[in-house]
Amino acid sequence: MKLVFLGPPGAGKGTVAERAERDLAVPHVSTGEIFRAAVKDQTPLGKRVKSVIESGALVPDELTIELVRERLLRGDTKHGWILDGFPRTVPQADALESFDPPDKVVNFELDDEAILERLSGRRTCPACGRTFHVKFMPPAKEGTCDSCGAALIIREDDKVESIRRRLAAYRAQTAPLIEYYRDKARLVAVDASPGAEAVYAAFLGLPGLSAR
Ligand code: AP5
Ligand code: MG
Repeated sequence: MKLVFLGPPGAGKGTVAERAERDLAVPHVSTGEIFRAAVKDQTPLGKRVKSVIESGALVPDELTIELVRERLLRGDTKHGWILDGFPRTVPQADALESFDPPDKVVNFELDDEAILERLSGRRTCPACGRTFHVKFMPPAKEGTCDSCGAALIIREDDKVESIRRRLAAYRAQTAPLIEYYRDKARLVAVDASPGAEAVYAAFLGLPGLSAR
């Protein structure tokens, strides 16, 4: 099963994908996580994209497309994949159609007020990438990752100015993909406003999804 997760920043794409990769036995490929790991490791890619992602703007299409194209050639994608955060522009979607089209595109729907509440309370593990929320998904020990024990951080792009930019980029460049995939009859919607358990249950209940 090849799934694209679409939706505004903070809708819960990464939260669902973390569980779904185990239940569906396909890798979770998050372009945002790949970029953040590159920044942390100060690789050439990381140095190139650091200021862009921290500001909340989008990384150039050519670079992102090539990164995903290469990632999807790896052996772990034999039974499919979950692409979280890609495509985010029409050129990216066209490129994906040309090399590995998705079976379904899951659109996580959430209003602006809830987006702001989720992003402003998010805490992220810089070591393993796991995500928490101070109110909705607190870690067992405040400020500490349940999985690996590292100290949790606030993502650079979860600061107010960057959140604004990300929402603007979403509306201008990513939201048109809803029509794009609706026209191809591959779009399915999930109401992302209830709690994490209910959202995940709604996701697993989508027609045609099967746990391996
Ligand atoms: P990326 O990492 O993809 O960021 P995003 O799309 O802005 O999405 P988020 O990760 O912020 O939100 P999410 O939907 O995963 O929500 P989460 O599960 O964490 O991209 C970052 C940057 O990289 C971009 O801005 C861009 O610069 C660059 N980039 C990436 N891909 C690119 C591309 N294709 N092209 C160009 N540039 C690209 O949940 C949010 C919070 O809510 C968490 O605290 C969580 O615990 C909580 N939560 C989750 N679900 C629920 C729930 N149901 N109820 C209550 N709380 C919940
Ligand atoms: Mg995410």
